[in-house]
This record gives sequence, structure tokens and C-alpha cells, in this order.
Amino acid sequence: THPIIIAIDGHSSCGKSTMAKDLAQAIGYVYVDTGAMYRAVTLYSIRRGLWQGEKLDTETLRREMEQVRITFRLNPETKLPETYLNGENVEREIRGMEVSAKVSPIATLDFVREAMVREQQAMGEARGIVMDGRDIGTTVFPQAEMKVFVTARPEVRAQRRLDELRSKGDTTTTFEAVLTNLQERDRIDSTRAVSPLRQAEDAIVLDNSEITIPEQKAWLLKRFEEIT
Ligand code: C5P
Repeated sequence: THPIIIAIDGHSSCGKSTMAKDLAQAIGYVYVDTGAMYRAVTLYSIRRGLWQGEKLDTETLRREMEQVRITFRLNPETKLPETYLNGENVEREIRGMEVSAKVSPIATLDFVREAMVREQQAMGEARGIVMDGRDIGTTVFPQAEMKVFVTARPEVRAQRRLDELRSKGDTTTTFEAVLTNLQERDRIDSTRAVSPLRQAEDAIVLDNSEITIPEQKAWLLKRFEEIT
């Protein structure tokens, strides 16, 4: 069977990337985490000092956008892709709370989205790809053969995200801070003018609040086999 494009979209912290990673590995596809790309642009804006409190110097970012080069390289040990910003591995830094707090405003900017979507479409040209994000099934690859829309209850998502932060050594962020951050991101992502987060009409919905990771993987593999 010929390789297809798999789009996985959904709310913040509902395990989209675990899901996309697992599936890609099982079927030998390339995995692309598009949230990491918006996070890397956000890190660039923070490091460049483009923020005054809540206010971003949008015009400078617009002018410098073509200097922001985001790439992925496989970590030889974990075999997982890691995010590079202008040649530097920023995989760890882009997952922190500072980037999380600013990424959704950055992701509302039309010129940022245009640049990211263009790169994502180029990465998918060879097909055989699993891409996760917010607008993959609606904007990046409306023609994707398999589209999954993932969700879970906010409290479940906050707990998972907190566990992840703890496992990476963050001992200070609270459950409430994580919950507030992800609800705020959902709100901004769903109400923005350009490519808002929404379920594609032809997407299959998965609420993973009550299912385990192996169950989720089996569910995905079954859908994949049905389609291919
Ligand atoms: O997937 P992750 O939670 O890492 O994404 C971080 C943020 O990037 C999201 O909250 C959203 O604002 C933005 N994003 C987006 N479009 C995508 C992927 C992520 O707007 N395709």
C-alpha cells in the first residue's frame, strides 16, 4: 500500500504527541511535532527580547521571521526527533512554562503560521508522515487520508502535563498553574482568526480520558489498517 498522511489534532496536553510518536514508530512513518515549531519561534522571540511584559514587538518578529530556521534531528539514543533552532538543540527549553505561556499568542500571528505551514507541507511531500498539531487536518493537509481529533477532560490533561514536568525535574509548577495555562491556550487556539483549532468534518474523534496508552495505540493501529 502507498504511504499516507496522518493528521492528529486536538486540545493542549491530551497526549497527541505520545500518540503520534507511538503510531509513527509502529508503522515506520516520520513523526512531526508542529507544536514544537511554534514553541521554537516563541523561544526565539523571548531570547531576542521582543516581549515587554505581555506585549510583543510583532513588527520586529515579522522582519526577522526568515532568519528563524527550525529543523528536527533524530536523537541517536532515543531515536526520537529533537527540535533545533538555528542549529541549536532547544528540545528541553521549548517545553518549559515560560514558552508555554507565550506560545499561543505567537501562534495567532498570520506570518508565523504561513511560514510554519509552508515548511510542514514540504515535510509531508514524501508522505508516510504522522503530524500532530491544531490545524493539520483542516489547513496543512486537508487531503490527509487519516484524521484524528483527540481530546480529554481538562483535569486529566493537567495531571498528565504536571507528571511530565515533574519527571523532567520541575518541582515548583502547581496543578492549578498547569490547568490555567492549558485552558487559556485552548481558548486562544479555538478563537483565533487564522486556522483556529477545530475538528475537521472527516476526522475521527478520540476522547482518551479513560483509556491507557496501549489501548490508544491499538485503537489507532486498527483505524490505520482500516484505511490503508
Ligand atoms: O502541541 P503543543 O501544545 O506543544 O503546541 C503549543 C502551542 O502551539 C499550542 O497551544 C498552539 O497555540 C500552537 N500550535 C498551533 N498550531 C499547531 C501546533 C501548535 O497553533 N499546528
